[in-house]
Amino acid sequence: MSIIEADLEAEPPLPIRVRLAGPRDCDALCELLDDPAHAREQVLAWLETPGTTLLVAQGETGVQGVAVLVTRVVPLPGGAAHKIVEVDNLVVRADQRGRRVGRRLLAAAVEWSRQRRAVQVEAVVGEGGARRFYESFGFAVANDRLVLAA
Ligand SMILES: CC(C)(COP(=O)(O)OP(=O)(O)OC[C@H]1O[C@@H](n2cnc3c(N)ncnc32)[C@H](O)[C@@H]1OP(=O)(O)O)[C@@H](O)C(=O)NCCC(=O)NCCS
Repeated sequence: MSIIEADLEAEPPLPIRVRLAGPRDCDALCELLDDPAHAREQVLAWLETPGTTLLVAQGETGVQGVAVLVTRVVPLPGGAAHKIVEVDNLVVRADQRGRRVGRRLLAAAVEWSRQRRAVQVEAVVGEGGARRFYESFGFAVANDRLVLAA
């Protein structure tokens, strides 16, 4: 099943499709980010880093949002390993927020992760709107993570 088919099943049709990003999306992706001075550097690093995947929501008026996914392979005792996908960033164009574009991108990110046999999808957020966005999708806080600010 493609990312796009999974999307259409999950939600009423929105005039967007979710696809993988490539170098041609660089300008559009830069416009989504808050820090224009470093946006290009950041986008190029994402596009070039193995294990980092960018999904974009493509609408009639261009790219409306991006999800940055980082795949980690975590070794398990006995030589096995499992895959975890972290949503490192998810941004919807400011003038398109509140129209479920973010939810469609997140649904596509979860489906993409399932297709790659990831056991878990994670997001690290503070308090506030972003946290409620993930919780409304079904994400829950896991208490087994210990974190130290570096
Ligand atoms: C957070 C963000 C991605 C949400 O995208 P969006 O397209 O506006 O969200 P959706 O319309 O798909 O909303 C889906 C659900 O999340 C909730 N939600 C979205 N933004 C919210 C906010 N700021 N506060 C509370 N709830 C919010 C919606 O109410 C909706 O809930 P429902 O299903 O119960 O009705 C978008 O606001 C954004 O790009 N913010 C800036 C970047 C950011 O904070 N990213 C997240 C951290 S990586």
